[in-house]
Amino acid sequence: MLLRDKFGRYITDLRISITDRCNYKCVYCRTGNEGALYGDLPFADYLRMARVLVALGITKIRLTGGEPLLRKGVIDFVRELSQLRRPNGSGNSADVLDIALTTNGHLLADLAQPLKSAGLSRVTVSMDAVDPDRFTRITRVPGGFDHVLAGIRAARRAGLWPLKVNCVLMRGFNEDQIIPFGMFAREEGVIVRFIEFMPLEEERTWSPATVVTLDEILSRMAEYRPLVEIPHARSETARRYRFDDGIGEIGIIAPVSHPFCGHCSRIRITSDGKIRTCLFSVWDHDLHAQMQRGASDEELAEFIQGVVLKKEERHHIGEPDFVPASRTMVHIGG
Ligand code: GTP
Ligand code: 5AD
Repeated sequence: MLLRDKFGRYITDLRISITDRCNYKCVYCRTGNEGALYGDLPFADYLRMARVLVALGITKIRLTGGEPLLRKGVIDFVRELSQLRRPNGSGNSADVLDIALTTNGHLLADLAQPLKSAGLSRVTVSMDAVDPDRFTRITRVPGGFDHVLAGIRAARRAGLWPLKVNCVLMRGFNEDQIIPFGMFAREEGVIVRFIEFMPLEEERTWSPATVVTLDEILSRMAEYRPLVEIPHARSETARRYRFDDGIGEIGIIAPVSHPFCGHCSRIRITSDGKIRTCLFSVWDHDLHAQMQRGASDEELAEFIQGVVLKKEERHHIGEPDFVPASRTMVHIGG
């Protein structure tokens, strides 16, 4: 039985937040005044949730946070996840799950190779400036830049591939980093993805004017080198581009100016074991409470199917009826 919502969208992509703690205080995300608000669960609980969801057709699992690498035991957890297999498979490599992780990269240099050896397929590193001072102004933690760069390079050496770098653009902070990031993508051999800033931050600074849009990113980059659009998978968040000489890939994730909700294939589990059907959900669904009351795997599967039927059709960013999500990004996981 596969997971399908009432708009006909199949859910194949699971994101599990394993902690809502973070060691950075990025301006577009969190204030850093609060510690973990919701806390986290033993890895065995996430593993059981993942197992039940894989039996329902999940093919890709992304670990998120907070900052997931702050969590001790993450390597062993990746190893256990990587042993899960898709159901009804033929027993060959096509049954293996795609296991990815989104990190700020601060602790990645030492963990990249162990993560790869444990079965992680790939990582996405959040990095919002290639200029170290600008990086510190955004993350509000001095000295992080060198760690993150070392993390990116270690991930590449370890073969965590494709290696993506996410840059949230926020007007007044880093729109001048667009071209330097184009150069960075070419020099470092990574896919740099620019993300339009969404209203999910703790400081409530979002307004339409703070968003650097897809059109603006494309025209700025064209001043450096022409980009050619290349095909992307229907459910992929990013539109993909190559530079005209074939060197370097850029992606643009444009949920504000070009929403992609119609092709959404994602479901999220928060660090405290709640299911969120959309980044912008105004409520969540307590899967962990079902486990605590002794539900069987079949009952959990039924619960999840019922939740998926409530998945929102789309977000309402920038519309008069927009209601802020019930959690900010650091407590959802991106
Ligand atoms: P791939 O697995 O490599 O395709 O990565 P991904 O794009 O699924 O994951 P990633 O964590 O890199 O997500 C990139 C960013 O896209 C997130 O940090 C969010 O800013 C945004 N994003 C991801 N999912 C959604 C979504 O469901 N809705 C909206 N509006 N934005 C999303
Ligand atoms: N808007 C867009 N992207 C965001 N991220 C965090 N907060 C926001 C926001 N308000 C991104 C991070 C990271 C991922 C987990 O989510 O840069 O790559």
